[in-house]
Amino acid sequence: MKRGLADLDVNGRRVFVRADFNVPLDGDAIRDDSRIKASLPTIRDLRDRGARVVLASHLGRPQGAPRPELSLAPVAERLAQCLGASVPLAPDSVGPEIERLTRELAAGEVLLLENVRFHSGEEANDPAHVRALARLADRYVNDAFGTAHRAHASTTGLAHALPAAAGRLMLAELHALDPIVQGPPRPFAAIVGGAKITDKIALLERLAATADVLILGGAMANTFLAADSVDIGRSRAESAAGAVARIRSSVAATGCRLVLPVDAVVANAAADDAAPVTVGLDAVPTDAMILDIGPASLAAYAEALARARTVLWNGPVGVYELAPFAAGTLGLARLLADSPAQVVVAGGDAVAAAQASGRAEDFAHLSTGGGATLELIEGRELPGVAALPEG
Ligand code: 3PG
Repeated sequence: MKRGLADLDVNGRRVFVRADFNVPLDGDAIRDDSRIKASLPTIRDLRDRGARVVLASHLGRPQGAPRPELSLAPVAERLAQCLGASVPLAPDSVGPEIERLTRELAAGEVLLLENVRFHSGEEANDPAHVRALARLADRYVNDAFGTAHRAHASTTGLAHALPAAAGRLMLAELHALDPIVQGPPRPFAAIVGGAKITDKIALLERLAATADVLILGGAMANTFLAADSVDIGRSRAESAAGAVARIRSSVAATGCRLVLPVDAVVANAAADDAAPVTVGLDAVPTDAMILDIGPASLAAYAEALARARTVLWNGPVGVYELAPFAAGTLGLARLLADSPAQVVVAGGDAVAAAQASGRAEDFAHLSTGGGATLELIEGRELPGVAALPEG
């Protein structure tokens, strides 16, 4: 168990909080502020305890140089609204001027540093850059679970330079996800959807070895169907016969039950005005694309999930952003929301679908991590977590 905020003496201290404010933007409008909201318990706790809060995050991949379109200015504004307090944005993340701004903070006040990736020393975890960041604070809190798979100056370097602890979001993520890695209450079912199998081979191999039921959907399932010589028309699929064979032999060896769709919603184009048709998988027209699972597949998923005590859901099972192809993914979200199992939702698309279903509060945990969550479930050590002291 990592040391938490309660074990850090913060009253009157400058506390550097590494958050993950890497939010999706349309211009300077924030499309989804879940990551900002998820950081609030840590910030509020520190303010209440008289800390002088220095917030830091990356946004996008500016490659070590300032890029105005990747400024954290929209995040400062949104944070100020959420906290009901002023959140000034510092013009940079290191240097004498920034040190002065941190020293001028009063107890309970908050300062947001500019995008830490505007300096190349951040991703290089350069020791001189770590020392420059360390001059801004007396304590370090890592609440950036979504960036915990990166060994950067503000995610690992600082944890060794200052007295450190995990933030509330970091601990909540580990609390929800660790059981899935260590041995969840069984039966344990995993649902993996999304487009690309090649991004998720390690995840699928791990789940084939640890889950009792592995349900596949989305374009990922097409790759399995095509490997079984099912005619999938013009559907998206990859040539990954080797990976499919490995996953199939892994499930055969462990007795994990593999569940694939049995019907599909097809159309000639992935478009809002497409005319969708539901067909069995033996009747996909050669000029059509599979864009959602059909009702028989959802019923098969429901049957396979009925006894599960733990469920992990990663990836949508159709192009749910388009109304004609949303029923499968949203139906799955409602099915999981109604389930008595502990349901953990991992990955931005599945979390967005859970929210779109209107039932977000009925899930045990919606993870804020993308790559970090998948790496943790794959059984890999996250450097940002490893660097934090045990409590
Ligand atoms: C994420 O969104 O997965 C994290 O913020 C990490 O971002 P990165 O992949 O650019 O390191």
